[in-house]
Amino acid sequence: MDSSRFGLLVFTIAILVSPAFSDLVLSKVDRRIHLTSHIVRISSTLKVENAGPETVSEVLLAFPDLQAKNMAYLIATPHEGKGKIKNSVAALPVQATNPKDMPPALTFYSVSLPKGLAEGDSFTFDVLVVFTHALRLIPEQITQADIQLVVYQESAYYLSPYAVKVQSLTVKLPDSRTESYTKLENTKIHGSEIKYGPYENLPAFSHSPIVVHFESNQPFAVALELVREIEISHWGNVQVTEHYRLIHGGTQSKGEFSRLDFQARPNIRGASAIRYLVANLPPMAHSVYYRDEIGNISTSHLWGDSKKFTELLIEPRYPMFGGWRTAFTIGYGLPLQDFLYESEGKRFLNITFSSPMVELVIDTLIVKVVLLEGSSETYLAATFPVKQRQETKISHLDIDGRPLVVLEKTNVVPEHNQYFQVYYKFNKLSMLREPLMLISGFFFLFVACIVYMHADISISKTSASYLATQKLQEVQAAIQQVQNVISNQCLTTHDKLEASLRDLSRTGDIQTCKATRKAADGLLKELSKELKPLLTILQSSPSAAQVFPKVEELVAKERELQEKVMVKHSTVVDGYEKKSGARDIENRVALQRQKLIALRLEVDDLLDFIDEI
Ligand SMILES: *[C@@H]1O[C@H](CO)[C@@H](O)[C@H](O)[C@H]1NC(C)=O
Ligand SMILES: *[C@@H]1O[C@H](CO)[C@@H](O)[C@H](O)[C@H]1NC(C)=O
Repeated sequence: MDSSRFGLLVFTIAILVSPAFSDLVLSKVDRRIHLTSHIVRISSTLKVENAGPETVSEVLLAFPDLQAKNMAYLIATPHEGKGKIKNSVAALPVQATNPKDMPPALTFYSVSLPKGLAEGDSFTFDVLVVFTHALRLIPEQITQADIQLVVYQESAYYLSPYAVKVQSLTVKLPDSRTESYTKLENTKIHGSEIKYGPYENLPAFSHSPIVVHFESNQPFAVALELVREIEISHWGNVQVTEHYRLIHGGTQSKGEFSRLDFQARPNIRGASAIRYLVANLPPMAHSVYYRDEIGNISTSHLWGDSKKFTELLIEPRYPMFGGWRTAFTIGYGLPLQDFLYESEGKRFLNITFSSPMVELVIDTLIVKVVLLEGSSETYLAATFPVKQRQETKISHLDIDGRPLVVLEKTNVVPEHNQYFQVYYKFNKLSMLREPLMLISGFFFLFVACIVYMHADISISKTSASYLATQKLQEVQAAIQQVQNVISNQCLTTHDKLEASLRDLSRTGDIQTCKATRKAADGLLKELSKELKPLLTILQSSPSAAQVFPKVEELVAKERELQEKVMVKHSTVVDGYEKKSGARDIENRVALQRQKLIALRLEVDDLLDFIDEI
């Protein structure tokens, strides 16, 4: 294939240096290039051997400058053999370096071996390198009905300052559809994998360009900027708020396409459009919300089934085509005790650095950790370099403002989503300050009320006030039970029904879906019976007079929501039974979905409202 057809910049390397750079030899190199998403990952296993008399403890990795500028992440680990758990081994130290007498236009990194290699010794290690923006979109524009094609270029030979005895390369594509790929000797294509090699006994800096032009309809989700605010609160909570400015970094659509146009013609295909994004939140995430730029909460789904993650599915208002942008915010709460620890008189927050979004590239990530007022001597521990500065955030109730640690990093990939720690000293007295302000506020309010009502606050077991207290406890218990039935049982059942529809769309298994529905019908009927006596208690007690209308409204709204969930469920199952197309079914439930979201919000609001009473 003629690669110059694309006008690609093929790296040129002048082989000026012929004397071997050192006595190291790579006796075996296996490389795998993963092109299954827009993030390019190259994993290599290198066996290095010392053929000279002097002990060597550093191994150089070489990258063409053009490739190095897109590098986001590089890690080297001792090779543990297949099937071993990777994260358990400590990474080898890697450092950028600038060795003398090397060919131009190359970037070098040096890997420190755990111990020096004596003559004849060998050591095997793995290298993972992650690149962003490394796929070229060709053609640069497509119509919305077209597939997206991309080009990736590499060298079939491993570029190294050392001679390589035996090597092979595998290129893994999203699927088997290729426009073209460079054919050299020993090139094989098998399904979605192209194999180059084995090649034997190549001198240092051997290089042979290959170009692969293939179909990739993966969503190219790129956050131009993400601002994550992680706020420690007094109330046992870590609040995370993430503001995304997102672009579809894939091939631009031909012609002017406005959102209105799209909404008028929703049937345009757009194989590479971003229809939804998936975020894997920590399993104990709660109070999850999703808000887009219009201010309304769009469709989103939450699953908490798996032990490892709470999965949040975000559906933007409209599918995003290449070049389209959107901005949205997600927020969630995490229990403090799972993220805040104490060690040697210091507290530290231990939390993940980056976005929970799957396969997202972040051009600029800003993480703001908001500590409690009265925190001091903060410092950061992270496994990779990030820029940091300190600021102060003043909000209501604060006196001096809250210290803020601001971290900034460009070119962030999922591999950066590692735990980092912010250590700080904390003065417990200042923690009491805000609650004390609140408590004294409430106390004065309370005293004012008592004075106003001339109430008798002495309690004896026979007194009217004792009975009133008992009655009040009964009312509180009833309210709590209603909340529990609705939020933990009814709403969970709705979520299960939604999940069963998703399973149905994946598996097509109508019977299982119907069985879930039947179980849900039964359960919801039972729950409705459970609610009746509770409502009677509340209705009949004067002390619940204020809250009862809200509880009644909550129960009514939940029932309405229930009915709508059932109608949607029936519509979808019916659609599958009649073998209607997925789009057809989607169109039929689109309106219902909006209503469901609105209702669900109302129910959540009412629950919150009652909770605060
Ligand atoms: C949300 O959108 C609906 C219509 O799309 C509109 O009627 C409603 O006022 C919006 N609510 C907010 C809070 O923006
Ligand atoms: C941070 O939390 C993770 C996950 O719970 C844990 O593996 C890691 O050891 C913690 N780091 C520190 C420094 O406590």
